This record gives sequence, C-alpha cells and structure tokens, in this order.
Amino acid sequence: MLAQQLKAKDRLIVALDVSTLDEARAIVKDLREHVGMFKMGLELFAAAGIALFDMMKQEQINVFFDGKFHDIPNTVAQASRNVTSHGVGMFNVHGSGGSAMLKAAVEARNQAVADYGLSKQPLLIAVTVLTSISGDTLKSELKVNEDVLEHVTGLARLAKDSGLDGVVASAKEAGAVRKSCGEDFLIVTPGIRPQWASTDDQQRIVTPAQALRNGADFLVIGRPITAAKNRSDAVKKVLEEMEFGLE
Ligand code: C5P
Repeated sequence: MLAQQLKAKDRLIVALDVSTLDEARAIVKDLREHVGMFKMGLELFAAAGIALFDMMKQEQINVFFDGKFHDIPNTVAQASRNVTSHGVGMFNVHGSGGSAMLKAAVEARNQAVADYGLSKQPLLIAVTVLTSISGDTLKSELKVNEDVLEHVTGLARLAKDSGLDGVVASAKEAGAVRKSCGEDFLIVTPGIRPQWASTDDQQRIVTPAQALRNGADFLVIGRPITAAKNRSDAVKKVLEEMEFGLE
C-alpha cells in the first residue's frame, strides 16, 4: 500500500524522549488512541534496555526503534535481525554506512521475518544527514564536497537502490528526495512544530500541514505533544493541522 493512502493518525509518530519506562508508559496511555506509532530511541534504550520491547508488547503499540545503526555490515545485520525479532514496526540505520551495510541490514531484516514467522515486516529506513550537521560542518569536518541537499538526495538514492523502504529527512529536503526516489519511497520527517507550539531547540522547523505538502509520509513529533499540559488536546490539534496538509 502506498503511504499516500494513510490517514493522519497513521502518519503521526510521537517521540518518547524520556529516560524511564514509567514516563514512556504514561505518555503512551494518554496518546495511544490518537497515534499510529511511538518512537523509542537511544535515550530510553540506554536507560531501560530491551525492557522497552516488553513494554511495547504489553501496551500493544507500534514502535519505531530509532537506534541509528552504523557499523560493519555483519554487526549491523545482527542488530537488524535482533531488533526485527522483537516485532518493531520500523527501525533505522545510517545511510552513510554504505551499500554493503545497507544491503546487509535489508537481508537480515527479511531473513528474521521468515525465521521468526512474523506477520509484518518492519520498515527499514536510512538516516541521511542529521539536521544538527550544517553545510559548513559537512564540508570542513566531514570533507564532503556537496551541499546538504545534494548529499541528502545522494544518500536517499543509495538507500533506495540498496532496498530500503525510505529515509529520515527534513521537510526542507522532502521535495527533492520525493523527486529523486519516487512515490513509493517513505520520507519520515522530524523538526515539526505546529503554529501554536514553542520551537524549543529546533532550528529548521516546518508546520505539520506544510511538511505533508512537501512530500513527507510520516511526521515525528516530540515535545509539542509530550510536554503539553493536556497531551490529548495537543495531539488532536496536530491531527487537525495534518488533515489540512492532506487535502
Ligand atoms: O521534541 P521534538 O519534536 O523536537 O523531537 C523530535 C524528535 O526527532 C527527537 O526524538 C529528535 O531526536 C528526532 N530527530 C530530529 N532531527 C533529526 C533526527 C531526529 O529532531 N534530524
């Protein structure tokens, strides 16, 4: 199924950027009716370990495991196999790990689905260029002789050609990635701020409606929802804004 057919709820990923499972569970309980997926990343993993997957199963939620794997192909393959075995809905690796690493992750994911008899294959997406990396840093420190947009679209193409399902990219880059990688390639976009929300530490922010219009399939949103006084009101307002972007 093309992501273009998904409803607003199924496109919303709420980031559980907390350091205890109790806090994560409290957010899940408030929001589970309204949200298609929850993102659990290194902060929670470093605190709670694989108990986070037990929580995922107890709460019966769909999880994007934001582990951003980047290592030699064999290690990334084994990590991909293990994370797939837990039954997550999505996980990611760094596109800059190169095609051998990306293909190893895809093969390991596919094999694990067969070996564990899973009914659903997790989506495997690549991180392109972190939004915390500026064009200057890319050039002067990482010695990349391309601007950010070219580098992002190049890594997205590499991910697509290696068999991945999509990428994480900012809404600013979503249009170029869509053009280069086609309609059935997923774009997951953080850095989203509804009009009424504080910008926090995000620099390059885009509203939910605009991100969807730019071509994003999934939006990752954290603090505007998780830190709101009334989380379910906040999520309802975000979903309304997303509906505008889907019209
Ligand atoms: O609270 P906020 O909405 O800023 O959270 C955004 C989430 O997306 C965080 O988990 C952050 O780590 C993640 N993210 C991001 N920018 C990236 C990649 C991931 O903000 N380029």
